[in-house]
Amino acid sequence: MARPAVRIAPSLLAADFARLGEEARAAAAAGADWLHLDIMDGHFVPNISFGPVVVKALRRHVAIPFDVHLMIAPADPYLAAFAEAGADLISVHPEAGPHLHRTLQTIRGLGKRAGVVLNPATPVQAVEHVLDLADLVLVMTVNPGFGGQSFLESQLPKIAALRRMIEATGRAIALEVDGGVTAETAPRCIAAGADVLVAGTAVFGASDYAAAIAALRGGAAPPRRAGEAP
Ligand code: DX5
Ligand code: ZN
Repeated sequence: MARPAVRIAPSLLAADFARLGEEARAAAAAGADWLHLDIMDGHFVPNISFGPVVVKALRRHVAIPFDVHLMIAPADPYLAAFAEAGADLISVHPEAGPHLHRTLQTIRGLGKRAGVVLNPATPVQAVEHVLDLADLVLVMTVNPGFGGQSFLESQLPKIAALRRMIEATGRAIALEVDGGVTAETAPRCIAAGADVLVAGTAVFGASDYAAAIAALRGGAAPPRRAGEAP
């Protein structure tokens, strides 16, 4: 299967929280493909960010897809709220609930694309038998909870293994990497098979968002294939 163009999903976690709408618009104007929204509950991860009310408020600022990364447990009671708030993709960690298959069915049932997130210690087998319900697999290259951490090189073989698993399905499941992605680590993620890169600090910590996004793509922005979902 032809590899789709690399998409860049800036994580608003590293933006100025007092100006979230403006920051979202700036990221979209700078060429962001998706906006990555990190939802943290202070329980599943040791940090608290924001919830569906903020997601809904952001929705009117930009049209690019909202890539909602749920770091909350349980996640199931909140899926509808995030769907209604304007999420396009909703991703969950297998550890956040006892029935991952049912959770993915619920997300799909809400009309949204469903993702599975693998923590650094979570094996690829956690997603193997639910790939038929997955539109996205997200590999954490840091322990979730905070931006600005160092990229875990140990996850590169996992990205490559997941790329092989995805190719075997024959479906265009997105393979996303999140944590410590910079212009230096991005090429290694792409070489391993990633096609969506999340970047918080590398975009919102830069003075020029467009230059930062272009650098993450490897300096070139390949055109999106006709008919491919944004
Ligand atoms: C961490 C979040 C990431 C975070 C990435 O739990 O899932 O999306 O914002 O931040 P950087 O790119 O700074 O590592
Ligand atoms: Zn994230």
